[in-house]
Amino acid sequence: MVESKIRPSRRSFLLGVGATGLLSALPINSGRAGSDGVVKLSSKPTQFDILAGAGPITDVWAYNGRVPGPELRVRQGERLRVRFENGIPQESTVHWHGMRIPNAMDGVPGLTQKPVPSGGAFDYEFTPPDAGTYWYHPHVKSSEQLGRGLYGPLIIEEAEPPKVDRDVTWVIDDWRIDQNGAIDESFHDMHDMSHSGRLGNVAALNGVSSDTFSVRAGERIRLRLINVANARVFALNFADHEPVVIALDGHPVDPFAPANGRIVLASGQRADLILDMSGKPGQVTPVVDNYYSRSTYKFLDLVYDNKQPIREIPLDAPVRLPSNPLAEPSMADAKPMALSISGGAMGGMREARFKGKSMGIRELVGLGKVWAINGEVFDPTSGAPMFTVKKGSTQRLVISNETSWPHPMHLHGHAFKIIARNGKKAEREIWTDTVFLDPDEQVEALFVADNPGDWLFHCHILEHHEAGMATVVRVS
Ligand code: C2O
Ligand code: CU
Repeated sequence: MVESKIRPSRRSFLLGVGATGLLSALPINSGRAGSDGVVKLSSKPTQFDILAGAGPITDVWAYNGRVPGPELRVRQGERLRVRFENGIPQESTVHWHGMRIPNAMDGVPGLTQKPVPSGGAFDYEFTPPDAGTYWYHPHVKSSEQLGRGLYGPLIIEEAEPPKVDRDVTWVIDDWRIDQNGAIDESFHDMHDMSHSGRLGNVAALNGVSSDTFSVRAGERIRLRLINVANARVFALNFADHEPVVIALDGHPVDPFAPANGRIVLASGQRADLILDMSGKPGQVTPVVDNYYSRSTYKFLDLVYDNKQPIREIPLDAPVRLPSNPLAEPSMADAKPMALSISGGAMGGMREARFKGKSMGIRELVGLGKVWAINGEVFDPTSGAPMFTVKKGSTQRLVISNETSWPHPMHLHGHAFKIIARNGKKAEREIWTDTVFLDPDEQVEALFVADNPGDWLFHCHILEHHEAGMATVVRVS
């Protein structure tokens, strides 16, 4: 794969950065409902110390004054009410990534609601059916609005969560900033759009370039990882700590320990891990990100404090999560839904249809479009569905990546069960809203289309989405 021109080099690339103290990762603010039961979420330009004192302050856009936005938490089956106030100088919306909620709450402009103008507001209200780790972000000019800092975690708690000492959220991202600490404004760069998307140069944990994360020997942590980057894939290696994956994209899995303690997450994806801190007081364990093999870097160090271990033998409590109430699809009556993805650099796409017209690649590039699904470049101004399926029907989804790039494909309003990759039966049961496909890979999945409405299906590399890699599934 082609390398990014920018490497995540932590803070050292900035001129004039002297030796500063190590910055320990910061926790996320929590979002609390007011006396009326409504959480206020307001997006605004603000200043934020991405570089943690080691460089200039950055002008960002943030929810409630901090990146990430507040962690919203409700119990599974409890109502969540959010008043969104848009204080950025652009239209916006809030999309609740991974939530199987009514279409009118999905936050997609032109499809499920009108965009919220600058200075306007919108009330979101829904009852999450599924427990797990989710997140929220705008669905207008996503590449720019997320790239400037608009995103936050949404945690739906199980009635009885597994017993742990700490429940911790790591929102992982990469910022693209210049020598002056300003957000790089190249949001619609054709190279990014046609290659691997907007990769940043400063890796961040909970918004900030963090050097360390403090742990205590013997403790059990439930670590909720959320990749909110525009495009970057993270492959975090927890060395010999043997994390156990208990959920992917919110949905429980049979707990398993991935090879080499390596967790790969593409944009939009989440993983819930159980981490038993098996090291000794004072120990330092690096967490290395080696997804892009030629730009491996240390994400941060897990630093054990000097306190006595909480316990000598790891906790012997069950970690399996109760399953979410998903309709079980049956292969026997599944209707085929095939998506073949083409385009991008080195993809050989010569033409595609856009706005009802067949266009050559030059013309498309001129319009900022380089990707197609089933030969159609997505037109956000039309939103016409490519697929119309019956409510309650079972769909057999076949996604074929016929490009030279990997893509995390995300379906709104549903979760689907992966049954095969490249014709080979899936090795474990995974329910997901965002499936990551390698170049030339084909994924088969099943889902029951039980949530009525118009749902977006798109690549979560936001620059690919913008350049045409999206479509609409109508469930009626
Ligand atoms: Cu997080 Cu349409 O996406
Ligand atoms: Cu893509």
